[in-house]
Amino acid sequence: MSARTHAPSDQDWTDPDWLDDPWTAAEPRRRGRKKPVGRRQLAQLTADEDSEQDDVIRRLKDLGHITEVVAELKSGKEATAYVARGPRGSVLVKLYRDLQARSFKDDRVYRAGQVILDVRAAKAMHNRTRKGLEMLQQDWVLSEYAHLWTLWTAGLNVPEPLAGPHPTAYADTIPAVLMRLIGTEDHVAPRLSDAHLTPEQARSAWDQSLDGMADLLRLGYAHGDYSTYNLLWQEDTVTIIDFPQLSTRQNPHFQGLLARDAQSLATSFRKHGIHADGQSVLRDVQRRALGPAPEPRLLLP
Ligand SMILES: Nc1ncnc2c1ncn2[C@@H]1O[C@H](COP(=O)(O)OP(=O)(O)OP(=O)(O)O)[C@@H](O)[C@H]1O
Ligand SMILES: [Mg+2]
Repeated sequence: MSARTHAPSDQDWTDPDWLDDPWTAAEPRRRGRKKPVGRRQLAQLTADEDSEQDDVIRRLKDLGHITEVVAELKSGKEATAYVARGPRGSVLVKLYRDLQARSFKDDRVYRAGQVILDVRAAKAMHNRTRKGLEMLQQDWVLSEYAHLWTLWTAGLNVPEPLAGPHPTAYADTIPAVLMRLIGTEDHVAPRLSDAHLTPEQARSAWDQSLDGMADLLRLGYAHGDYSTYNLLWQEDTVTIIDFPQLSTRQNPHFQGLLARDAQSLATSFRKHGIHADGQSVLRDVQRRALGPAPEPRLLLP
């Protein structure tokens, strides 16, 4: 297994080197997104798509995390999102695809600076052997959980993780990540990229999105894919999602990732009538990061 080390979170937010990173993000990353497929009922899925996912779903039921899967919400490049029911309400099951079918092309940028103490594991991951891919897949899913727990307990607007907090508890759900569904079964929260906003709502969504990026930065994180595609809109509130690639300053590309996030946010908000440039967004976010943090959430036993 891999061993991560994490950078301390005492970042110097005023560091002038930030925007001079050689790995630059002048162009926001395009992820070849599919259009939303809508909510296909599970009965309509083909046997092929079903088989592997069925095994995981069965395991999640056996573990008592869910009682029923209601519908497939969205099939993305890396994962399929399902709406399910569980003992604590509606669940979003983010089920990562078979590791062979996944592209790890983009992972290297986010993994840079990561220390893998086990030399054989590091080699297998580097060479993308079957075992190495399996480790990468596990690490990716575990990272998403770990980040969700950190951010949720710190009081950020992210979905509540529904397995854990101890890693042995959430490791049992690999390759799925379980979190609270934002919205309801019948009205799942849209992404900000799909939402229709009044000018007033657009200003509020923009303001909340800047605060959200600042909240991450205050904790020492760059999201790595921060745009309206990974922000949900529910009851006039923005919720941040999609965390496997979160980076710390330990990553040599940290500054570039931050700059790219700022640019992606600005670009993706244009359709809502907000016009800002990446550099001013980054300055605004840095300023906000010096302000007060959200109220932490208590983890009751
Ligand atoms: N907690 C949640 N509540 C409601 N919807 C969610 C939640 N988490 C994710 N979704 C929906 O599932 C989709 C996929 O989730 P996510 O962005 O985490 O995965 P992804 O691998 O980036 O997929 P994609 O390539 O489709 O963006 C989101 O775009 C959003 O529509
Ligand atoms: Mg996403």
